[in-house]
Amino acid sequence: MFAELFEKAARQCAEPNAMVLSTVDADGRPSGRYVLLKGIDARGFVFYTNLESRKARALAANPYAALTFYWPPLDKQVRVEGEVERVPDADADAYFATRPRESQIGAWASQQSAELASPVVLDQRIQEVRARFDGVPVPRPSFWSGFRVVPRSIEFWTRDPARLHERVIFERRHGEWKRSLLFP
Ligand SMILES: Cc1cc2nc3c(=O)[nH]c(=O)nc-3n(C[C@H](O)[C@H](O)[C@H](O)COP(=O)(O)O)c2cc1C
Repeated sequence: MFAELFEKAARQCAEPNAMVLSTVDADGRPSGRYVLLKGIDARGFVFYTNLESRKARALAANPYAALTFYWPPLDKQVRVEGEVERVPDADADAYFATRPRESQIGAWASQQSAELASPVVLDQRIQEVRARFDGVPVPRPSFWSGFRVVPRSIEFWTRDPARLHERVIFERRHGEWKRSLLFP
């Protein structure tokens, strides 16, 4: 059902794969930020990031996340919640290899979420990475990989002009998906 809706969103939305990733850190504090959905199949929803970033540290301490999509042209919101696992290195290598070279260089140069003393420092780091991999393919840094959110629930929300929005939730219990409606 998600895949069908996502295809529809892809035809009508500028960035259909943008989703808010919500995490909770070791102190129980929530934080949210957009990431891009880069893989979806029966196992779950995959995104890629820096493994030393704030989000990755939160996920290491508390491996549960929520994803929220909003596709205005479709009047649809989708909420996904579940446990998070790392994708296999081979999957991350394969995806990293498809990225534009400048993004690959950026992944090496950015100490994502750490304090940056000045933009000059980032520029210098980018120059260093360019020089280091001059003329050769840029390999995936070991500190950059993917996470898969394995859904325990997926809720489809559809706007209703009379504000009686439709909410359909699928919850996985003991391997079986249960479908229910929710009050708006
Ligand atoms: C539309 C959009 C897509 C983004 N996609 C990603 C992504 O796929 N991976 C990523 O690490 N950051 C992505 N970002 C940047 C994150 O929102 C965030 O700034 C960064 O990952 C650092 O977050 P953190 O400090 O909470 O770890 C995206 C931002 C926007 C606005």
